[in-house]
Amino acid sequence: MNADTITHTVNLPLPVFHVPPTLNERLDDAEREALTAEIRTLLARENAVLVAHYYTNPDLQALAEATGGYVSDSLDMARFGHEHPAQTLVVAGVRFMGETAKILNPEKRVLMPDLGAECSLDLGCPADQFAAFCDQHPDRTVVVYANTSAAVKARADWMVTSGSALDVVRHLHAEGKKILWAPDRYLGDYIRVNTGADMLLWNGACIVHEEFKGQELAALIATHPQAKVLVHPESPPSVIALADVVGSTSQLITAVKTLPAQTFIVATDRGIFYKMQQAAPDKILLEAPTAGYSATCRSCAHCPWMAMNGLRKLAHTLRTGGNEIQVSAELAARAVLPIKRLLDFSAAQKQQVFGNNDA
Ligand code: 13P
Ligand code: SF4
Repeated sequence: MNADTITHTVNLPLPVFHVPPTLNERLDDAEREALTAEIRTLLARENAVLVAHYYTNPDLQALAEATGGYVSDSLDMARFGHEHPAQTLVVAGVRFMGETAKILNPEKRVLMPDLGAECSLDLGCPADQFAAFCDQHPDRTVVVYANTSAAVKARADWMVTSGSALDVVRHLHAEGKKILWAPDRYLGDYIRVNTGADMLLWNGACIVHEEFKGQELAALIATHPQAKVLVHPESPPSVIALADVVGSTSQLITAVKTLPAQTFIVATDRGIFYKMQQAAPDKILLEAPTAGYSATCRSCAHCPWMAMNGLRKLAHTLRTGGNEIQVSAELAARAVLPIKRLLDFSAAQKQQVFGNNDA
């Protein structure tokens, strides 16, 4: 058995889906400047705020920050959009992030630069197959990762993100719950091993993180023995086993800022380097290898769907009001429950850690 074989997975044939080539937007300085100025005007005119994920183009991340918007991981993007008063949320990221924003804010308009920006985890977990899987295991609490469709969330008891999954599953395990987990088998297995919970896993994977290679990473570490290794938990076990820090995108950025090391090897989408470098300009960041034995390089450490976001498409969306996310009221009413459960859980946790400052 290969070191990265996961044993607690459901044995279902997964859907075959198309992975587009990674096509980053290319702009010269004049076009970038013109688009940026236009988008600033349009955001103000439309009473809109831009929320971007760390994996998107640096132009978008910079613009989000410069216009009072936000750049973060999937959990905090949802939180920010929910709390911000703007009537239009523009979500630069992938479709499930836009859907989550819409589900939490049904009265707001949610726009995205490209509605075709999917996610292999979402595509690999069709709602009908997932519902059948849940029906076969009625004794299990259904926990789904944020990277799923609204219909899959609607079938779940809890939604989690990479930054919150350990705490939520630990909590459920302490209550004696058995868990049905979807869709990422690597993240699910990491949580299972670290909590001791009884977890049955859907067989999905992120096409970006599953390409990181344990053997080649070990060889890179050998040439940089002082480096700290930062790994997103959607990576295979052989890669996670070599990590100094395993965490969500936000947690990995915090690690670069706070750990007293000079060099870091980073196993996640390279879009994150923009923020990491900003957080720690003097530090050296190396990409974890995706090449080597059995390499497919379908993504080469950059999500092809995140790469669909760019200034041209963003300006077009704001000009036309196109690419609006739609989730039916009936579906949203069901899908919001597992999302709210997570937001309430993490707010209660914060309260426990920091206490009530208003008191
Ligand atoms: P984060 O929640 O860590 O931002 O991860 C989202 C994602 O899609 C990672 O591939
Ligand atoms: Fe999905 Fe992976 Fe892209 Fe994240 S990096 S959006 S998990 S395909």
